[in-house]
Amino acid sequence: MAQTINTEVTRTDARRKVTGTATYAADETPSGMLHGALVCSAIAVGQVTAIDTSAAESEPGVVAVFTHETLPDYKTVKGFYAGGPGSSSFWPMEGTDIRYAGQPVAYVVAETAAAARRGADLVNVTYQEADGSIHMDPEDSFVVGAGEDSEGMVLTKGDLQAGLDEAAQTVDMTFTTPFQHHNPMEMFSATAEWRGDRLTVWMPSQSVRTLRHGIAGAYGLPETSVRVISPFVGGAFGSKAGITPYAMLTIAAAKGVGAPVRLIVTRPQMYTVATFRPESRQQFRLGADAQGRLTAFEHVEIAQTPQFGEIVNPGTHITRAMYACPNIHTEQRLARSDTNSGGFMRAPNEMQTFFGLESAMDELAWKLGMDPVELRRVNDTMTHPTEDVPFSSRSLMESYDAVSNSFGWDQRGREIGSMTDGDWLVGYGCATATYPTNILASNARVRAQGTGNAYVELAAHDVGTGTYTIMAQIAAARLGLPVEAVDVVMGEADLPVAPISGGSTTAASAGSAVHDACVKIAQQLATQISGMSEGPLSGVDPSRITLDDGTLRGPDGQSQSVMEALQMIPEGEIEVVGTFRHPALTDQLIKATFSGGYGTAGPVTPEFAMFAFGAEMVEVRIHKYTHEIRVPRIHSAFAAGTWLNRKTAHSQLMGGMIWGISSALHEVTETDKPRSRFLNANIAEYLVPVNADIREVRVEMLEEQDDYVNPLGVKGIGEIGIVGTAAAIGNAIYHATGKRLTALPMTISDVL
Ligand code: MOS
Repeated sequence: MAQTINTEVTRTDARRKVTGTATYAADETPSGMLHGALVCSAIAVGQVTAIDTSAAESEPGVVAVFTHETLPDYKTVKGFYAGGPGSSSFWPMEGTDIRYAGQPVAYVVAETAAAARRGADLVNVTYQEADGSIHMDPEDSFVVGAGEDSEGMVLTKGDLQAGLDEAAQTVDMTFTTPFQHHNPMEMFSATAEWRGDRLTVWMPSQSVRTLRHGIAGAYGLPETSVRVISPFVGGAFGSKAGITPYAMLTIAAAKGVGAPVRLIVTRPQMYTVATFRPESRQQFRLGADAQGRLTAFEHVEIAQTPQFGEIVNPGTHITRAMYACPNIHTEQRLARSDTNSGGFMRAPNEMQTFFGLESAMDELAWKLGMDPVELRRVNDTMTHPTEDVPFSSRSLMESYDAVSNSFGWDQRGREIGSMTDGDWLVGYGCATATYPTNILASNARVRAQGTGNAYVELAAHDVGTGTYTIMAQIAAARLGLPVEAVDVVMGEADLPVAPISGGSTTAASAGSAVHDACVKIAQQLATQISGMSEGPLSGVDPSRITLDDGTLRGPDGQSQSVMEALQMIPEGEIEVVGTFRHPALTDQLIKATFSGGYGTAGPVTPEFAMFAFGAEMVEVRIHKYTHEIRVPRIHSAFAAGTWLNRKTAHSQLMGGMIWGISSALHEVTETDKPRSRFLNANIAEYLVPVNADIREVRVEMLEEQDDYVNPLGVKGIGEIGIVGTAAAIGNAIYHATGKRLTALPMTISDVL
């Protein structure tokens, strides 16, 4: 049997995707369907004083124009950060309040998408405008959950000031990161069809069960009356996680017109009707003795949050896990401004904070006259610095050693500006990457047939990452089948419970449930075939029969393949539901996931701290005269437990690093300050790298065994790739030029 895990397997859905037969949510066209279009606010803060819909209503093809006064039976849900399933805790069109630019103020339904857009253009909204500011004022920040330390939003260990006083070298630096938007290729959309009290919603989603639970709850329907379907997702990155206002508006509009309605949000509207990466400020004070050992570590993160609600992605919880230090102080702060709700965007707690942390560590290394890799080595620790539990596995320095070797770190010039090549200044930089191993309960149903097939069903999602493929690989490996013989069904809320595809959890948590189902199939088979009068395992104590990837083995060398054994039993097949219940999952957390919420355990449990680690190294070249910044090489090494699919994992890591280059050098949602709006709301002006910006990208995937995280030994890798890149590039720019850049993105004007 060919090995199917820890090998390169081409995506099982590749052909369907490239031939257009993979259907995305907006490909569904229920019969009699009408088209929706949003009218979005022209002001950022104020009131709607009047809406004239007459011109829109007389536009040919327009069926209805709904406003806050006329939209019937519109329901809302609680926001994610308030413990609910919503993308925001403020809901537009409940009244006349305008809280952010581009907020939906009216909803047009028409016979064609073009007519709906024309109708939307003809809706005449009158506003009373008030002053607003799209940017936070960091001076006006406040501690998250002030007054209660319980969630660790403020943490003090030892004596920070004493640690700074005794240090041989200190750094005190502040970094800033901008607003960013996800820009998934697949547009946001929602299609709603009511049949009496039964509702079907097609919508690209990272959490179909959360959607179904939230929508059913809002309308007071049993969950069995609501279907939520999202078979393929064309990129999510955190933007398709919660229940959005545009979805609830579409559901209400469909009810209002008595016909199915599909809304495809326009690209510019995608910058205002959903979440984004909030801007942030990262303040670090570090101290170290002459040998480089940290004596003081302070990180204060200030992140932007809207006027309503508190968007908390606690980066300090991750930075303080990195390096050994006796004196630590961290604070998680927010500052308000006039935007929609931000949310999570790939490595929401890590991308911004590690730009700060790893740039500050680099600065400290220069001050100490140390190699920056050696500074990380001196401060590496197998015990979590503030939680006093060991890491379940931590291969940070193995990652640095591997990437140093691949990159040729020993060729790095000792002095700033010491490396040149013709008209180019050359610099080398490195940075640490990490991502927590978050744990969520999951189920999965597997049916194995002696004819040589298996079916895997679970309410997980493939957000473009290869989840269909890895789920098939896990079942194929355990049952002894080729990957093509395993059919995987996901992306429907009716399927067995699986967690949100967020926080890099799906492979580890949902994959472990698939693994468990296969083990249970083997156990049932062992019981049945051991009781038969014939066969190689006849009469063997079933508790001593073990599953060895496709083969049932008895204690004395007897064996039989799973498929042969299945053929022997009368049914010829076995169907079971596998489960993943990590010991760190309390009943309350399991209940949260099973009732449609998010019951996440980890990364710190009473026994272990669970993180994946990696290291990145980049070469930058800065032209002496044009000052353009190029990244000819970026190398990395990661250790994240078991690799399920070396091809899709490699792509994930490489994609993360490329997005890291984007964050470092290109990406920023520009703002129109006087009008408090996001400005470059299209892919032409929102800069991302093109092929010419990306040269050599090399990823090494290290072997690591971790028996604690889950039975597969898998740590999530969806987000770690982006984490270290911006700092590694900034550090290389410093090496080349002596300019320490502290604001993303880093552009030509910063190195003039
Ligand atoms: Mo991902 S930002 O955890 O959806």
